[in-house]
Amino acid sequence: MTDTAMVNPCETSTPNRLNPPRVRSPKLVQGVGFAFFRRAAMRNWIKRHGRIFEINIPFFGRSVVVSDPALVRSVCTASTEELVNIQPNLGNLFGPGSVFGFDGTRHRDRRRLLAPAFHGPILKNFERVIEDETLRESANWPEDKEFRILEPMNRITLNVILRTILGADGVELEELREIVPPWMTLGSLMAFAPAPPYRTGRHSPWGKLDEFRQAFDRIVMTLIDRADADPGLGDRVDVLAMLLRSRRDAGTAMLRLDICDELLGLIGAGHESTASALGWAFERLRRHPEVLAELVREVDAGGSDFRRATILELLRSRTVVDVIGRRVGAPNFDLGECGIPHNRTVLVRIADLHENPDIFPHPERFDPYRFRGTKPAAPAWLAFGGGARRCLGADFAIAEMDIVLRTVLQNFRIQTDAAADEKSYFRGVAHTPKLGGRVVVNRRR
Ligand code: HEM
Repeated sequence: MTDTAMVNPCETSTPNRLNPPRVRSPKLVQGVGFAFFRRAAMRNWIKRHGRIFEINIPFFGRSVVVSDPALVRSVCTASTEELVNIQPNLGNLFGPGSVFGFDGTRHRDRRRLLAPAFHGPILKNFERVIEDETLRESANWPEDKEFRILEPMNRITLNVILRTILGADGVELEELREIVPPWMTLGSLMAFAPAPPYRTGRHSPWGKLDEFRQAFDRIVMTLIDRADADPGLGDRVDVLAMLLRSRRDAGTAMLRLDICDELLGLIGAGHESTASALGWAFERLRRHPEVLAELVREVDAGGSDFRRATILELLRSRTVVDVIGRRVGAPNFDLGECGIPHNRTVLVRIADLHENPDIFPHPERFDPYRFRGTKPAAPAWLAFGGGARRCLGADFAIAEMDIVLRTVLQNFRIQTDAAADEKSYFRGVAHTPKLGGRVVVNRRR
């Protein structure tokens, strides 16, 4: 990555406020660095400019990148009026009725509505489904033969979301299982690309996304009709039922298309991210026999503390979503000594926070012991983002990872060796192990 001198640090946007140092290479070069060589580019830029600097990249324009914990705290604690959602955002992919596309009061109200579906008592109801899906998926795993674990993890997490959040079963569940994975692959790549203003053909990426969307809406409308006619709707705990029961202040029901947008958003946000984190779990355990042995000891004794610590360390050391974004909604936003003008993008680089040796000594080490008996402190540990837009499914994801890992460890022995670490592969939203988390297992008799 080539970039040249910083702008004069005395150049100010508002009186007594500095501008962040600016990366000066051409926009396209910066864009390629950000999109395809992000880790190396960020390291290089941090080394030159420090933990706050400005880049200029396609789609997001001039963007201030921060990874200093104090500055990240300012971003996370800003009001939703000061910092609004980044543009473009995942709402473009899921539709205008999803929480991803909202700001301000609408955003707060929708989060309030969704939050109960992702907390303690409700999650307890999902444990059985997660265990069932793990056992079903692992029933045919080969023994003594290396295979990619990422796809099995994707199937488990997709089935779990479809059953627990949409309440899907039967034909609809089968159809959704078929159509969601190819949409997810294409959608992740297209999420931030603006749709062209003219109609595109059926075989163009946008045409394919439209085709998927029609099929998805048709299936979910069937599920909604069935739920509407269900005398037990009042007792159901899936999100589809909750959204269907909800009433706005004036007593009006949510639009069915908005329900479809919201459910698609939860599927899109929730299944591949969790599967990627699980893929990394097996990639790491294969290379860390001492951690694996401790986990097996604990699972056999019925414990879970070390497993929880391992999950936190996984999410630190192999950050699945490495950056979160906001846009300045106020006339100006103060970030440390810098003044960030209205409409400028602010990007928090989670991966660089997680690799800061001042916060996590020897950050390159996979060391679950650092979280044993302690909770990681925000904003230094930020795997699920922070503030008003913190991941709604964080507890759900951790509970799911916990149960999948427990079930696999109870039933399989994972072979360990000194294989080279898998590199990271960016799928457009999530970072996954590049070789798919290759493992060799044997059944425990
Ligand atoms: C290991 C798995 C996961 C990771 C690493 C992850 C990470 C994230 C991150 C970094 C954000 C952005 C937060 C911000 O902007 O501050 C986010 C948002 C979100 N996530 Fe997750 N997530 C995971 C699983 C899930 C699951 C299982 C669900 C739901 C089923 C979910 C639903 C959401 C939603 C709805 C938002 C948007 C919140 C908003 O805009 O208000 N996520 N997630």
